[in-house]
Amino acid sequence: MSYERRLQEDQALIEAYLADYLDTLWPFGKLVDAMSYSLLGGGKRIRPVLTLEACRFCGGLVEEALPFACALEMVHTYSLIHDDLPCMDDDDLRRGRPTNHKVFGQANAVLAGDALLTAAFEVIAKAPKFSAEQRLSAVRVLSEASGPSGMVAGQVLDMDGSFQIRELSQIQAIESLKTGKLIIAAVQLGCIAAGGDEKNMEALSTYAEKLGLAFQIQDDILDCEGNEEELGKPIGSDQANGKVTFVTLTDISSCRDMVRRLTKQAQAALGDQESDGFLSWLSERLSERRA
Ligand code: IPE
Ligand code: IPE
Ligand code: MG
Ligand code: MG
Ligand code: MG
Repeated sequence: MSYERRLQEDQALIEAYLADYLDTLWPFGKLVDAMSYSLLGGGKRIRPVLTLEACRFCGGLVEEALPFACALEMVHTYSLIHDDLPCMDDDDLRRGRPTNHKVFGQANAVLAGDALLTAAFEVIAKAPKFSAEQRLSAVRVLSEASGPSGMVAGQVLDMDGSFQIRELSQIQAIESLKTGKLIIAAVQLGCIAAGGDEKNMEALSTYAEKLGLAFQIQDDILDCEGNEEELGKPIGSDQANGKVTFVTLTDISSCRDMVRRLTKQAQAALGDQESDGFLSWLSERLSERRA
């Protein structure tokens, strides 16, 4: 099977799991509509695909990692709903459609995000095939990556205009928190699901650290020179909000070099542990992405 086909199959498993989860909810008022709108509203599903493929990398069955993978996608989706709010990036377009608050209003968007965040941990707690120890490890990994030591901390620094960013190392630290941590958590959850060993965990974590940074630098590049139709979100949002990113601190061509360098480093981290090349291929594909 081609890697492209395998990616589509992973994505289809994720879509089906998320839709099934939403079907279990009692359709009270607008909440489920607002959650479904964003959770099923497109998206590349990169993080949950990484969980499934990290599970496979460690010798596990991809289907078994689905609860962990989809829990992570719920946290990611909540972070996007909140990121687009007027009090944050104030964006009107996401995944090619009006943002959640544009359709459901700000209060419902905040609450749909809250619901997705809490649902993620419910899904992990109830994941049927795992031991209590595996579920506890998954909760620890996901909460550390998304909370005050991870994504939320990065978002605060990203928003804080009084925080003077002059050095590449500072922007790297912020972007690693706001984006990198969840991408590292994605592969770690896959490793936990498969019962992978320390060596697997180390190789996958380094791979994801490099990939995550490359992913956010590419996001910064696309914010400047992407195409709104392809990207599904507004171009120039960072500039309009006066954000300091890799692009503003350097230039597009240096950013492209960084993405290429980090992609090579991600691939090197897997070394001879990678039996079939999918994760290397995925890092290459993401480094060239236009969406
Ligand atoms: C967007 O993430 C936010 C970033 C951290 C760059 P994605 O580019 O993965 O967004 P979706 O899930 O595919 O819409
Ligand atoms: C957001 O970064 C990362 C999150 C934690 C949501 P951006 O603000 O650059 O993401 P986009 O460009 O809106 O997707
Ligand atoms: Mg933002
Ligand atoms: Mg944003
Ligand atoms: Mg961006």
